[in-house]
Amino acid sequence: MATLDSQRAVAVIGAGTMGAGIAQVAAMAGHPVILYDTREGAAAQAIAGIGKTLQTLASRQKVDSAQAARAVAALKPAQTLADLADCGLVVEAIVERLDAKAQLFAALEDIVSPACLLATNTSSIPVTAIGAALKHPGRLGGMHFFNPAPRLPLVEIISGLDTRPDTAQCLFDTAFAWGKSPVRARSTPGFIVNRVARPFYGEGLRLLQEQAVDAATLDYIARACGGFRMGPCELTDLIGQDVNAAVSRSVWAAFHHAPRFEPSLVQQELVDGGRLGRKAGRGFFDYADGAPAPAPSLAASQPRPDVIALFGGSPLAQALGSRLRAAGVPFQACAERGDGRVAQADEALLYLTDGRSATQRAHDLGQPATLLLDLSLDPATARCMPLAAARQCPPAAVAAATGLLQAAGLDVAPIRDVPGMVVMRTVAMLANEALDTVSQGVCSAADVDQAMRLGVNYPLGPLAWCARIGADTVGTVLTHLHAAYGERYLPCAALKSSIYSGIPLHVA
Ligand code: NAI
Repeated sequence: MATLDSQRAVAVIGAGTMGAGIAQVAAMAGHPVILYDTREGAAAQAIAGIGKTLQTLASRQKVDSAQAARAVAALKPAQTLADLADCGLVVEAIVERLDAKAQLFAALEDIVSPACLLATNTSSIPVTAIGAALKHPGRLGGMHFFNPAPRLPLVEIISGLDTRPDTAQCLFDTAFAWGKSPVRARSTPGFIVNRVARPFYGEGLRLLQEQAVDAATLDYIARACGGFRMGPCELTDLIGQDVNAAVSRSVWAAFHHAPRFEPSLVQQELVDGGRLGRKAGRGFFDYADGAPAPAPSLAASQPRPDVIALFGGSPLAQALGSRLRAAGVPFQACAERGDGRVAQADEALLYLTDGRSATQRAHDLGQPATLLLDLSLDPATARCMPLAAARQCPPAAVAAATGLLQAAGLDVAPIRDVPGMVVMRTVAMLANEALDTVSQGVCSAADVDQAMRLGVNYPLGPLAWCARIGADTVGTVLTHLHAAYGERYLPCAALKSSIYSGIPLHVA
């Protein structure tokens, strides 16, 4: 282990949201911590805030009170940069501007010893660019904490072109010793999380633009079918629509305006209208006192169909079977059919989406009573199932399909018939981005999954999810989406290679 000795002082520069959080983490790990900010009194104010936080946590027995008291005593404000001369590590968390960061590190090089490591908490500026003007860029790396830093376990350890391997290793081991779960990444736009997470927001916003669902229903589907902790609308309201839009724009620009990162007009309109989310009292939803909670639009209760049949042994068919059995609803278990149908309810035929619209699928099958089901994280425990009907589907078939799903204990969310539906489209794009990121050597397959689980709370890493549903299914969905919408949905080369070889990306 190349961990920074806990006796060595850590300096944190920038005493705002992130700097204060990082200082708290380092102090709780036993380091003497020096906090510096150019704003008069900001460092002392941040230390007082940390003291209060730790006192509250100790009174609730969330942290050890002696450890909290030691941490508070270990925090000191610095008056000038010269006070940082004896530090073993400096973590920078100042304003997100390249010129400010480069200037700060250049000044620091004249103050700290040659052995002192330098880290930046930047979320979007290339570490290579920040280090470019340094005399010793090898000792600079990224240490990208997530907000709130004391609570979120993920830290992305970023290597720029010049970062020495031992620097990255020491930052990694130190983050680990501080109780974090670090991952390693190369300095590429968005690093891991801010790149791979883009489709979660981007596809949700596209679905709103296509009028596929309303915001409350989209969020409900993401949670109750996809297993995500929050839906894209409530999450962007929490992050701030302006902040989320700025990250999307910066990743889009950094990837030379690749269509898959294209910013959303729906989100831009919210920003233009000052509907920035929770902090503004209004975003997708209204946060005024007494405002009604967002309610999803669900199908009205339908009678149980006379004929219910399930086909084959797919996870979805099996889960529907168990749910119907548990509800005491009789059904016929039938062998798989060549067309891949999952279920029949009277005249209605139900299929798992493959990226084509139900309307196209009905046409291709010559079967007007065609309805599509979405991907769910776990069909045995999901609470909701989105349902898309072909335009040519008779109303009685829609009612029968709805009745079957309701008999299986599912809330049915009727959505407009758009290719790929909600969860399947989102997960296919997340998996594609994760595969692309790994194949470009940004990070390992294990690290991309860990980063997405710990950084943004995904219920499964995108690569594990891809393996669960099958690379060929993801490839088919994207190929159909590509045919419907164009370049945005092109399957990446790594996905194609996995499909043609049958070998997952991370297996050599
Ligand atoms: P903030 O605005 O809360 O705090 C920045 C602090 O830096 C302010 O107190 C300011 O007075 C001080 N400052 C500015 N220029 C300075 C300089 N030259 N020398 C010393 N102090 C200076 O900002 P926040 O949110 O804490 O972000 C800081 C950094 O962390 C940025 O690079 C940001 O991109 C990154 N980051 C932010 C996250 C977030 O969710 N807020 C998450 C992860 C990274």
